[in-house]
Amino acid sequence: MTNAIAENEPHYEVEARRVLLDAFERYSPDRLAISFSGAEDVVLIDLARELVDDFAVFSLDTGRLHPETYRFIEDVRRFYRIDIELVSPNADDLAGFVKEKGLFSFFEDGHQECCTVRKTDPLRRKLADLDAWITGQRIDQSVTRVNLEHQEDDTAFGTSVHPIEKFNPLANWSGQDVWAYIRDHGVPYNALHDKGFVSIGCEPCTRAVGPHEHERNGRWWWEDGSAKECGLHAQNIARPIRIVS
Ligand code: ADX
Ligand code: SF4
Repeated sequence: MTNAIAENEPHYEVEARRVLLDAFERYSPDRLAISFSGAEDVVLIDLARELVDDFAVFSLDTGRLHPETYRFIEDVRRFYRIDIELVSPNADDLAGFVKEKGLFSFFEDGHQECCTVRKTDPLRRKLADLDAWITGQRIDQSVTRVNLEHQEDDTAFGTSVHPIEKFNPLANWSGQDVWAYIRDHGVPYNALHDKGFVSIGCEPCTRAVGPHEHERNGRWWWEDGSAKECGLHAQNIARPIRIVS
C-alpha cells in the first residue's frame, strides 16, 4: 500500500483519499467494492489505485445503458487494467417483468418497478457478498443528497444480521471539482458528456441538459424531483430533503 496523501492538494481531494484509505484499511477487497457507473466513479478508481494495489469494482448492467456507456466501461477497464464485474438482472425476473409491462412502462407508471428489477435487486444480490461499498454520490447532485455523509450505515440494504457500510468519499465535491480532476489527471470519461449529458443513467431515462440546468433534470424528467432516487440510494429519500425552487 502506498500512502499517497500529498501536500498542496485541494482539501476535498485530501478528504476523499482519507475516506478511501479508511475503507481500504478496514475491509479486504473481497468484502468491499467501488460501485461504478459514471464520471465520479472513475475519479474514485483513479484515487484508489494510488492508495492500494488491489480493489474491487462492479457495475450494474441494466441492459438499457447507452452504447457510449458500454464503451466507457470498456475504456476504463483497459485504461486501468482492472476487472469491472458486470452485475446483471435476474433473467427470470426480467423476462416476467417485460412480458407483463413491456419495455417502457416507466413512462406510464414511474421508474421504480423497472429500477427494482434492473438495478436494486441485482445490487441487493451483490451486496449480500460484501460488507461495505463505495459510491460516487455528491451532496450537490440532488435535493435528495443534501444530508449525505462520508460514511453511513446502509439502511436500505443492510440488516441487523448483515450490516452494510457505505462510503461516499466525494460527498463534498462539486461537479466542477470532478471535472477539474478528470481534466488534470487525463482520466477517461463517457463520450456522452461531450453531447450535453451530465448525470447519466439508462438510455431511455437520461437526456442532455442545458448549460444552466440542474444535472438531475436530465434523469427521469417526467417525475417529481423529490423522488429521483432509483433505489440504489433509497435511504436518501428516507431523510429530510431540501426543496429548491
Ligand atoms: S442513481 O441512483 O441516480 O442512478 P447516480 O447516477 O446519481 O445514481 O450515481 C451515484 C452513484 O451510484 C454512482 O457514483 C455509483 O457509485 C452508483 N451507481 C449509479 N448507477 C450505477 C450502476 N449502474 N452501477 C453501479 N453503480 C452505480
Ligand atoms: Fe429502467 Fe429507466 Fe430505471 Fe434504467 S433508469 S432501470 S431503464 S426505469
